[in-house]
Amino acid sequence: EDLGLSTYYKDYFPIGVAVSPRALKGKQAQLIKDNFVSMTPENVMKSGPIHPKEDKYNWAPADEIAAFAKANNMKLRGHALLWHNQAPDWLFVDSLGNDVSKEVLYERLERHITDVVTRYKDVIYAWDVVNEAISDQSDVFYRDSKWYQICGEEFIAKAFEFARAADPDVQLFYNDYEVINPVKREKIYKMVKGLQEAGVPIDGVGIQGHWSVYEPSESTLRATIDRFTGMGLQVQITELDVSIYPKEHAPRDKRADDDDTFTDELKQKQIVQYDMIFRVFRENKEKLSSVTFWNVSDQYSWLDHFPVPDRKDYPLLFDQNNEPKEVYWEVVKF
Ligand code: XIL
Repeated sequence: EDLGLSTYYKDYFPIGVAVSPRALKGKQAQLIKDNFVSMTPENVMKSGPIHPKEDKYNWAPADEIAAFAKANNMKLRGHALLWHNQAPDWLFVDSLGNDVSKEVLYERLERHITDVVTRYKDVIYAWDVVNEAISDQSDVFYRDSKWYQICGEEFIAKAFEFARAADPDVQLFYNDYEVINPVKREKIYKMVKGLQEAGVPIDGVGIQGHWSVYEPSESTLRATIDRFTGMGLQVQITELDVSIYPKEHAPRDKRADDDDTFTDELKQKQIVQYDMIFRVFRENKEKLSSVTFWNVSDQYSWLDHFPVPDRKDYPLLFDQNNEPKEVYWEVVKF
């Protein structure tokens, strides 16, 4: 008998899943209810989708997810108040198309954060306040985004302050990817430490966890988690998936409808990798306050379209028919 993923892990950490409104119907909805105790909106709470024009919010899709969370007693992580991607066109420019001043940008940011945080105050327990502000280039500290260009690094602290003002009780996270890379990890550590020392209201660090059957290694995973514990902050895995493709040199000729690519060898590699990842997570249960998968099942993963279009991936615990994969049974057996 299958107790459901979260029940197996009830003495360890809550397990969540990224969802879009269309996942809240039919078989995926059942899968969500049976296996997860928390959700993250995959796209609909990002600033572009939820705030397409300065004077217009698109609340309906986000409201749907919030209502599903409430109806099913699930926790909700908000994602994301400030990001360089999926931001609306109007945000950075004036009516003539020129960059706005940082004063104007802060006014807009404050309005946005206040409105969104306030609306979901009753259901969201944690927000990704700033997403991906650190550069991937080893010799560059901050990402060269529109935010950075207009405001300098100060926008990060501002976003946390606006979020705290809108809700004194919600947990506020900095979230990023490639945290397993030691150079990027140190930059994130340094930035977060600096925020803490400056008295900026930050409660946690989100390690996205877009990994693969090839990385991280066990020692790298342990080093990644260890780096952020002992700071007095929460640590969460916020966007877990285990791609069957290596990050570089990925074959670009695989079609989304080609499901022969998930060979037995890759299945075994994925089992070994997920097994290791969850063993390390369980050993760190005092340090990890939640683990969230990025998407429900292999029926749909954002990796089907990223980093290359139309290349099917199989990164999750449930298959294309929304049934548990062999790797699921391994992850719940301990
Ligand atoms: C992705 C979504 O899954 C896609 O549907 C969308 O097209 C692009 O964004 N890091 C994040 C997430 O913080 O918001 C991203 O989500 C995946 C990478």
